[in-house]
Amino acid sequence: MGQKISIKTKHRDGPVLRTKGLGKTYPNGTKALKDVDFTLHSDEFVSVIGSSGAGKSTFLRCLNRLIRPTEGMIELQGKNITYGNGNGLKQVRQQVGMIFQQFNLIPRLSVLSNVLAGRLRFNQKHISYGTSIIRLFPKLEKEIAFECLKQVGIEHLAFQRADTLSGGQQQRVAIARTLAQEPKVFLADEPISSLDPHSAEKVMEILLQINQDQKIPVIINLHHIDFALRYGRRIIGMADGEIIFDGKGKDITQDIVDWIYQGQEEEKCKAERIRAYA
Ligand SMILES: Nc1ncnc2c1ncn2[C@@H]1O[C@H](COP(=O)(O)OP(=O)(O)O)[C@@H](O)[C@H]1O
Ligand SMILES: [Mg+2]
Repeated sequence: MGQKISIKTKHRDGPVLRTKGLGKTYPNGTKALKDVDFTLHSDEFVSVIGSSGAGKSTFLRCLNRLIRPTEGMIELQGKNITYGNGNGLKQVRQQVGMIFQQFNLIPRLSVLSNVLAGRLRFNQKHISYGTSIIRLFPKLEKEIAFECLKQVGIEHLAFQRADTLSGGQQQRVAIARTLAQEPKVFLADEPISSLDPHSAEKVMEILLQINQDQKIPVIINLHHIDFALRYGRRIIGMADGEIIFDGKGKDITQDIVDWIYQGQEEEKCKAERIRAYA
């Protein structure tokens, strides 16, 4: 694409995550991500917006190596994590935690077991999810899991089966499970898309709180533009696999939003107009 907008902010610490020329071409030839240069600091709360198919999910999935990039590189705290396999890859997925629109809990297990399973995935190799995995965990592990449940405000639901919970509560369990991994970066792909507005707000507040209290940077793909602008201190606009806007939430205008969501035909003249705002 042509004109891009990037508004830089100064940070005291070094970046937690950095990409250079990051790209993903799927085996069928779709270029879903193109030449993405992106830097993330620990205090940042980022909303990623853009039309369906813009490449938002591909971007996040590359960052935690759920999918393998085909170009460029990703650094996590200065370490190249782009192409590792085996234990290295496992460690990346633990350090770059992610939640999804569908909460991906184990329905018949308790809330606490689900949160413990978050730690288990990364700490032990072989375990079958029997009727109770709780007893397999040392006390400290359970304390950590309870602490994570407390942070999302549902410790009182610890012993309920996950599938008896509302959508909003299940997403909070998923957040607690990710927190239990002790991630360095927290990714969320459309985390509120299947929630009612009240639950959606609660989930966004929790993610913001995690960012502010624990200094874990958060990147959220959001379809709901109003939530994206309300919570995102930094907004990334994607179109056609590229980052075409990167700036502060307060700097974004309706024109910029229209441009990010627009097809490409009017791109050039819009970009001229946006220069006045940027
Ligand atoms: N596994 C895949 N194989 C081939 N193409 C894919 C795959 N996943 C996504 N795509 C394509 O990549 C592009 C970006 O998709 P995606 O990252 O899901 O965008 P978004 O999350 O912004 O809707 C789209 O054209 C989509 O059809
Ligand atoms: Mg998506």
